[in-house]
Order: sequence, then C-alpha cells, then structure tokens
Amino acid sequence: MEKEIKINFEAIPSYNDLTEIEKKLFDKAKSVRENAYAPYSNFWVGCAILLENGEIISGSNQENAAYPSGLCAERTTIFWTSANYPNVKIEKLFVIGAPKDALTSAPIPPCGACRQAILEYEAKQKDEIEIYFASLDGEIFKTKSIRELLPFSFDASFL
Ligand code: THU
Repeated sequence: MEKEIKINFEAIPSYNDLTEIEKKLFDKAKSVRENAYAPYSNFWVGCAILLENGEIISGSNQENAAYPSGLCAERTTIFWTSANYPNVKIEKLFVIGAPKDALTSAPIPPCGACRQAILEYEAKQKDEIEIYFASLDGEIFKTKSIRELLPFSFDASFL
C-alpha cells in the first residue's frame, strides 16, 4: 500500500515580509556568512540562532584539508549554542548559503546531517525550532520544525 507524507512550509517572498526579529536574523546570517572558512568548496554559509532570552548566536561553515573533518554552519552554530547555553531554548534558526562571490542565490536548505543534529536539540528542549533558509536577496522558506524537513526521522525513541 502506498502512503504519503505531507510536509508544510511557508514561502516568504521578500525581506520586507519578515518581522523585525526575523530581519535581524536574516541580516546576521548574511553578515556572519562572510566569516566562513571554506577554502575548498568556496561555498559560504552563515547561520543565526534566536534564543528565548532574545540573544542571537551566529556561526559559519568551517572546512578542513581532511574534508570530512569540516563542519556546516548550522552544526557549528547549534553545537556552540548548546555548549554555552545548555538550558536556554532555541526558538529560530536561520541559514543563508551561496558560493563565495555570488550576488544572487537560491534558498539553501540544511543538509541531512544538520537536520539530524537540529532534531536532537528539538528533542532536548522538548520544543520546536522554526527553520528559515534564505537566498542572498531575500527569498525565504520557513518551516515550524525541523521535522518538516526530516519527516521519517530517527530519534532516541527507537533506542
Ligand atoms: N554547508 C553548510 O554549511 N550547510 C549546509 O546546510 C550545506 C553545506 C557547507 C559545508 C561545506 O563547507 C560547504 O557548505 C559545501 O558543501
């Protein structure tokens, strides 16, 4: 029997359609992207996280000559956040990725490994994290939880 899983996401047409705090996250993800250390792929990614206390934490992708030792912007940022604010809820995660010299881009969704890592923190904090991924010029996709992007997910309930 064939079954279907439906995923929900919101398409936000432009930067001007964002709320003030969302604009701050967009701006931060875009500016911190400039700190990417990505000499091998030349693909620069920035990530901004909003905590429930109003603080914004940000990070970028960090590559390595031993390629698999590098880390995506989303995991760099969320691991640092949990390491330093273990008991503060994460409300939103914003990501912007594009080739180094690009002027325009498409919204880049978090890779599979990052989806799995973000899912772990939703479980840890027992609450959803809103995910936004945006193009450089402000086309944005938003989901209410990482589960929308990782519907058939593996978590601790199976262990
Ligand atoms: N990258 C991210 O930082 N986040 C993603 O979701 C996709 C990929 C990074 C990893 C690597 O440094 C570069 O982009 C090219 O894959």
